[in-house]
Amino acid sequence: MIKIKTQKEIKKMRAAGKLAAELLDYLEPYIKAGNSTLLLNDLAEEFTQKHGAISAPLNYNGFPKSICTSINNVVCHGIPSEKDILKDGDIVNIDVTVILNKYHGDTSRTYLVGNVDPKIEKLVRRTKKAMEIGISKIKPGEMLYEVGKAIEKYIEPFGYSIVDAYCGHGIGKGFHEDPYVLHKFSMENAIELKPGMTFTVEPMVNMGNSSGVVTSNEDGWTVTTLDGSVSAQFEHTVLVTETGVEILTKV
Ligand code: MF3
Ligand code: CO
Ligand code: CO
Repeated sequence: MIKIKTQKEIKKMRAAGKLAAELLDYLEPYIKAGNSTLLLNDLAEEFTQKHGAISAPLNYNGFPKSICTSINNVVCHGIPSEKDILKDGDIVNIDVTVILNKYHGDTSRTYLVGNVDPKIEKLVRRTKKAMEIGISKIKPGEMLYEVGKAIEKYIEPFGYSIVDAYCGHGIGKGFHEDPYVLHKFSMENAIELKPGMTFTVEPMVNMGNSSGVVTSNEDGWTVTTLDGSVSAQFEHTVLVTETGVEILTKV
């Protein structure tokens, strides 16, 4: 069941989304070679608490940390660790979700660490563009599958692959609500968009031609590409408005 948010709820979603975006802005100067992903995690937890919010990932289905940090061939759900030290040429996705006044704000960006191979930089830029193109399709009366269709149409010619094992999701009081938002065309997303719906758009794009992913047996979370190629992701939480779309995870 897709929950249509009331004006009161939308206000809270806006505040949570803004805080999540501010958290990423706050972390940005620390995303550099020599810093561990654990440092980023600890800074995020501190910032979140200071703003009266809760880190949604912490203890979510047993996830052990406050944010997800996914480096290079890690597709998503990387666990911050003191052993993971960022180095020149890496890309790292930082995925944060805060709960403020009971409502979630979920957003991620992929950052370049120092000098990154231009080919990889292109993947990152195009993945961001893919998210933006998907979001631009959103308006009342439109079908949700237009989001995935547009992302697929844009990404396909580059020879990259869109991960289909993970998708966007409705969001509100719940971290992951209906509907599931696919990043490729699918009749499963033959859902008419209505004002007051809130969900994420968060394509994961692999540089290689395999969309396959594997989840680590060791920690049960870290998802990597099947072929070892690098993977990028961007995520926003959005609201369907009376006339179009509003990005909630912005400052
Ligand atoms: N933030 C992720 C998403 O976009 C979910 C992370 S779940 C966790 O949906 F448990 F790994 F934190
Ligand atoms: Co999400
Ligand atoms: Co997220």
